[in-house]
Amino acid sequence: MGKVAVSVLSSDLGYLADSCRMINRSQAWSLHLDVMDGVFVPNLSYGFPVIEAISHYSEKPMDAHLMTVEPSRYYQRYKDLGVSWLTVHYETCPHLNRDLQEIRRLGMKAGVALNPSTSVFLLEQAVHYADLVIVMSVNPGFGGQKFIPESLEKIDRLSRMRKEKGLGFLIQVDGGVNANNARILYEKGADILVAGNYVFSSEDPVAAIDAII
Ligand code: DX5
Ligand code: ZN
Repeated sequence: MGKVAVSVLSSDLGYLADSCRMINRSQAWSLHLDVMDGVFVPNLSYGFPVIEAISHYSEKPMDAHLMTVEPSRYYQRYKDLGVSWLTVHYETCPHLNRDLQEIRRLGMKAGVALNPSTSVFLLEQAVHYADLVIVMSVNPGFGGQKFIPESLEKIDRLSRMRKEKGLGFLIQVDGGVNANNARILYEKGADILVAGNYVFSSEDPVAAIDAII
């Protein structure tokens, strides 16, 4: 049995409060916030005012995935908005150890995300400071993309690294998750699956979440 982080990126943003209520009554582990800056990724999503609105309706922990350059400029803002899990991209943080420690110092759980082309072995010297690692199974920037099959091997390697080092960080898989691939992802070592398009394109989103737990 795994955990599901629901991304509201693919939801109808005109009905954000309704989507939050749906997530509240589902078995979702978190509400996953995809923040994009149009620089690190070729798309813009939403920022602080929208996250604040979500915080008024969400009863689930907010787990923010920052696809933004220079994320450290805003860690305190995310903390103030009630974000519990804050994940930065490896590719945006030349001083990753410092970033992860800073996020923890502010009282949040610290996560690091890897683009599909970034090797898990690059985390060997920093993963001790992470509470969460996101394996991106699509190139970040858009919801509703196809799962990249090579991600399975990365999850497997990361899971072995965790065992070898005796660490307890959680492994989250983000992008292209659906009812057909959820099992194998858990089997490879994923603890949390992010789901956006699959949930919000389903007729019964609560049941769709149940189907991938
Ligand atoms: C992609 C984001 C997502 C994503 C969810 O840049 O990180 O979290 O939209 O993916 P889907 O829609 O494939 O479930
Ligand atoms: Zn995400």
